[in-house]
Amino acid sequence: MPSWIKVLDQAPKEGTMVEITVAGKDLFVTLNNGHLYCAENRCPHEDIKLTLGCLKGDRVKCSLHGYSFDLETGDSSEVDVENMQTYPVKQENKQIYIEI
Ligand code: FES
Repeated sequence: MPSWIKVLDQAPKEGTMVEITVAGKDLFVTLNNGHLYCAENRCPHEDIKLTLGCLKGDRVKCSLHGYSFDLETGDSSEVDVENMQTYPVKQENKQIYIEI
């Protein structure tokens, strides 16, 4: 059953991605245009860290082939590439929690 786990003492700086490891999974948390997001730090295309890429609009763009994924829904820009796994994230008393 999913539960909320504290992962950071404060939100990432706007426009940055912070790598975290939770329950054996490599994830990232980002603050993008004032919204917090959390997703798996692995491109569904060829298994490279998405934190090597960049944020573009409301998406993260992979550094290898440039495919992108919606930070909220994980939706892939390519019909034949799986979506990115995303996780609920919230801030309470400055601290950041994700549900996993
Ligand atoms: S490995 Fe990410 S787009 Fe190809």
